[in-house]
Amino acid sequence: MNAEVLLMFVLGVNRAYLYTYPEREFIAEEETRYDEVLAQRATGMPSQYITGHQEFWGLDFVVSPAVLIPRPETEHLVETVLELAHGMTRPKVIDVGTGSGCIALALAHELRDADIWAVDLSAEALEIARANAARLQLDGRVRFVHSNILEALANTHDFDLVVSNPPYVGFGEADKVQKSVRDFEPQVAVFAGEQGLDVIRPLIEQSHRALKPGGWLAMEIGYSMRDAVVNLLNLTMWDEVRVVPDLQGIPRVVAGRKKATGPSLGSANL
Ligand SMILES: C[S@@+](CC[C@H](N)C(=O)[O-])C[C@H]1O[C@@H](n2cnc3c(N)ncnc32)[C@H](O)[C@@H]1O
Repeated sequence: MNAEVLLMFVLGVNRAYLYTYPEREFIAEEETRYDEVLAQRATGMPSQYITGHQEFWGLDFVVSPAVLIPRPETEHLVETVLELAHGMTRPKVIDVGTGSGCIALALAHELRDADIWAVDLSAEALEIARANAARLQLDGRVRFVHSNILEALANTHDFDLVVSNPPYVGFGEADKVQKSVRDFEPQVAVFAGEQGLDVIRPLIEQSHRALKPGGWLAMEIGYSMRDAVVNLLNLTMWDEVRVVPDLQGIPRVVAGRKKATGPSLGSANL
């Protein structure tokens, strides 16, 4: 499968061409180039970093080692946000930790009247996200901001939706992560402190401040984090907390709704 993808990349052809002309032989430069990319792949480098592309939500994204490779399971998060946004007029949405921009741009593609923002701590990732917006002719639809979580927008309190696929792997779990992820994907995109909660914790707090009353936070979580994350969504401040499993039944997305009225002093201690 990988060899086929790399072959298409080197020859600049699609799969249909490959199967229509199986007798096609390499010219010398192609053979050299193919050997080079196979050698790169043999180091464990994901094929997406070699070809520079990954599909997400039916859209073609450019990727580089500055961004996480978009994963199919993150489409569950996009689906959840589309359900939550259903019926909203001109929703104001922010994607925290946008990376390649895949979530923000998939949402911009679907929610034609939404006001979409995206932030990342990595300036290199934001460059890739902006390039993707331009390639997908969605520039002008998403505002990209360099920010540590939502700190650069500390005075904004009118978002309808905060969405995030944050880094959530704990350093203590590094050995459970695929070697290619550990060795090639950006550490800042994957790891978040000892327990994996060092971004999620402030994200929950800052999202509460950034959201309108009644607004939603939806996050992707690690396979064993459901209870920890649900507990962080302090029930005096968040309503309608829900956990969305993926097709294999693994809890994949947690969403919560900012209470329409703030907690009273009494209830905050309950
Ligand atoms: C798991 S990746 C997700 C990338 C992309 N949204 C996706 O789903 O493929 C997490 C992203 O969060 C960014 N990030 C990490 N810490 C952050 C922080 N404190 N503030 C903002 N972004 C952060 C990383 O640079 C990375 O792009």
